[in-house]
Amino acid sequence: MRIRPIASIIVLSCIPVAMPSLCGSPAGIERRIDALLARMTLQEKLGQLSQSTAGYARSDAQLRNDVRAGRWGSVMNVRDAQQRAELQRIALHESRLGIPLIFARDVIHGYRTVFPIPLGQSASWDPELVRKASHIAARETAAEGIHWTFAPMLDIARDPRWGRIAESLGEDPVLASALGAAMVRGLQGDSLDASDAVAACAKHYAGYGAAEGGRDYNTTWIPETLLRDVYLPSFAAAEKAGVATFMTAFNDLNGVPASGNAFLLRQVLRKEWGFDGVVVSDWNAVEEMVNHGYAADSADAAVKSLRAGVDMEMASTDYYDDLPALIAAGKFDVKLVDESVRNILRFKFRLGLFDKPIPAPPPASAMLAPDALDIAQQLATESAVLLRNEGNLLPLSKSIAKVAVIGPLSDSRVDQMGCWVSDGRPGDVHTPLAAIREMLGPDRVAYAPALKNSRDSSQAGFAPALEAARNADVVLLFIGEEQSLSGEARSRASLDLPGAQGQLVEEIAKGGKPVVLIVLAGRPLTFSKAAADARAVLYAWHPGTMGGPAIASLLFGNAVPSGKLTVSFPRTVGQVPIYYNHMNTGRPARGASAHISEKVAPEGDTSRYIDIDYGPEYPFGYGLSYTTFQYSNLKLSSASVAKGGALTVSAHVTNSGRWPADEVVQLYTRQLSASLTRPVRELKGFQRVMLKPGETKTVQFKLSAAILAFHNERGELVSEPGMFQVWVAPDSARGVRGEFRVVD
Ligand code: BGC
Repeated sequence: MRIRPIASIIVLSCIPVAMPSLCGSPAGIERRIDALLARMTLQEKLGQLSQSTAGYARSDAQLRNDVRAGRWGSVMNVRDAQQRAELQRIALHESRLGIPLIFARDVIHGYRTVFPIPLGQSASWDPELVRKASHIAARETAAEGIHWTFAPMLDIARDPRWGRIAESLGEDPVLASALGAAMVRGLQGDSLDASDAVAACAKHYAGYGAAEGGRDYNTTWIPETLLRDVYLPSFAAAEKAGVATFMTAFNDLNGVPASGNAFLLRQVLRKEWGFDGVVVSDWNAVEEMVNHGYAADSADAAVKSLRAGVDMEMASTDYYDDLPALIAAGKFDVKLVDESVRNILRFKFRLGLFDKPIPAPPPASAMLAPDALDIAQQLATESAVLLRNEGNLLPLSKSIAKVAVIGPLSDSRVDQMGCWVSDGRPGDVHTPLAAIREMLGPDRVAYAPALKNSRDSSQAGFAPALEAARNADVVLLFIGEEQSLSGEARSRASLDLPGAQGQLVEEIAKGGKPVVLIVLAGRPLTFSKAAADARAVLYAWHPGTMGGPAIASLLFGNAVPSGKLTVSFPRTVGQVPIYYNHMNTGRPARGASAHISEKVAPEGDTSRYIDIDYGPEYPFGYGLSYTTFQYSNLKLSSASVAKGGALTVSAHVTNSGRWPADEVVQLYTRQLSASLTRPVRELKGFQRVMLKPGETKTVQFKLSAAILAFHNERGELVSEPGMFQVWVAPDSARGVRGEFRVVD
C-alpha cells in the first residue's frame, strides 16, 4: 500500500478547532481547492469530471486501479458498503492527491424502505410528509456510505404515455415546486456532511417531460414563456431549497440538446439563479449529442458540453478521452476544465468527504426502522385517491363475512414497489392480500390471482376467481400495471388496462357482487368501462413497502382517503396531452369556461371532440373522501390589489359527512385578459385541512400579486393589471368563485 505523501496531507486535512476559518468556511474551502488545483495534472482534473459505474464493463480490479490513478471523480452503483469503503480507502490513501470519491446511486423513492412512486407521493399534497420520507431515504442511503442520489425528478409531465410520469410530481408547477423542494430538504437535511444526509440532484434539466408523442428521450419544443412558466419553476424551487446538483436531460430542447444547452445551464441556472453546485450529464448524454446531430464526433460533444456548463460526464468518457489533444492544440481553454473541477471539489468539501472517516458497514437496524415503516404507510395512505364510491360501498365493515381478493396485483411484492427500485427487497414488502388476511383472519378471505401478471391475456385462471367472487360478499379486485410497464423507456401508446384485466373485471361484475377496484399503476390509465362495472375505485399507484397495510386500512375504514390527483386522467389516449391549466381558445367547448364574449355565441363549432366529451375522466385535484365537504362563503380582503401588494382569500369548508377527515383545499386563479393568453386556471396554493364531522373551518390564503406574474414574450417576469377570477376549490373543475382586479 502506498501512503499518501505528507505534502498532500497538509493541503487536504483540516484541523477545524485550530483553523476554523480556513477549513469549512466558503473562503477556506476555495483556498483548499486552489491548493489542490495547483497540483493536479490535466489527467487528474479530467478524472474529477468523470463519473463511472461499477460493474459496467469494468472489473473490480480495474476499478481499484482506476481509482488509485485518480481516473474517476465519482462512481455509481458500487455493489456494497464494504466495496465502497475499500474504494474510498484507495482514493484517500493510495491516489496521488488523496481526493475522495463521491458514491452515487439512484434512490428515487426510498432505499430499503420503499415509499410510493413519486407520482403517488405527489397525490398526498403533503410536503411535510414527503420531506420526512425523503429524509428516511437519505438516512438509509447515507448509512451505506452513499453520498449522492439522483432525485428528485422535477420534470412536469402532461403526458401519461410517457413512462417516467411515474417518477414525476405531476402536471402542475406550483405543486411540483413545493414537493420537489420538500424532497431536497428531506434528502439533504440540515447539512450535506451530516451522517443522515445525501446530496440531491434536480433532474432532468430541462423539458424532458414534454417528449413528443410521450415517447421517452424524444425531442421537445417548448417556447420560452411556457418553459419559464411551467417547466422551470420546479427546478428554480429546488435551487432555492439548496439542491447540491443538477442533471441535464436527454432531450433536445428547441433544437439544442439539454447537455449542450448554454442557455439552460449558463444563462438560467448559473447566471439568473446563481447556482454554484455541480451539473452532471445524464447517462451517456454527452456522447449522445452525436446522435442528436448536434456534435460531429465525441471530441465535438465534449467541447460543446463542457462549454455549455456540464461539469461531470456520466458514463461516456468524451471529456477524458478527447479534451487533452484539443487543449494541447490550443483549441480548448483549460480554464473551463478548472472551473468544473472547482465545482466538483467544492461539492466534495461540502459533503465533508475530505475530513470524514471511512464509514463502517451499517448495522441492520439502520434499515426499515419502525419510524420508516410508519411514514411509508402514512404516505401510501395519503397517496391513494378514491375515484368512485357508489352508494358509499367503502369503507367495508370489518365484520363482513367473506371477501374475495382477486387480481394479479393483490400479492405481487415486486410490482407493488414500482419502477426505479435498486435496493428495496421484495421480501420486505407487505402486500394487500397479506394485510387483508391479517385484518380479517385467513378464513374470511378467498384469494385467486386470475392472471399471472397484468399483461397476461389468458383467461385460464378466471374460473377459480369467479368461484371465489360468487362465494364472497364483496370482491376486492387488484388490477393495473405491473412495475415494468412504467419508468424509463417504458412509454406506452395505449393507456388501457393491459392483458385480459378488462375482461376479468367484466366477468366478475356479471356475477353481481359489489366490486371494488384497487388500481396499482405507474401512470393514469384509461379504464372507464372497468370503473363503471365497479362500485368503488381506489387508485393506489405503486405504493411501496407498506402499500398493503395502507390499502387495507383504507378499505376497512381505519383510515379515510384524502389523496387528490396531480395529473388529469384522460378518457382515452386520443385526448393526450390533456392538462387542467390549458388556454381557453377562441372557441372553448361549452362548459369549459365561464368566460365567453357575449358577442360570440357559445354554441356551434367549438374546441371539442365529436366522439367523446372534451374534458378529462377525472380532473386534476380530484379525489373523494368517505365524508363530504361543502365549500361556501368565499371572501376577498379587497376587490383590488396593487401590483406590489397582496390580498387574502378565504372560504368556509365544512365537513358535512360522518367521518373526521383531511381535505386538500386548493386555490386557483385566472387572469381574464393579458398581453399573452393565460390558462383557464392555475393552482396558486393548497392546504391540507383536518375537519371533524359537522365542523366548519375558514381556510385562508394569502395571494400576492407577485404570485400572479407570468413571463411575457420577452421572457420577463411581469405582473400585468387586469381582472382575475379566483376559486377556493376541492379540485380544478369546481369551487367557490370570486373576482378581483390587479391595478397598476
Ligand atoms: C436516467 C437518470 C438516472 C441515470 C443514472 C439515466 O438513464 O435518465 O434518471 O439517474 O440513468 O442511473
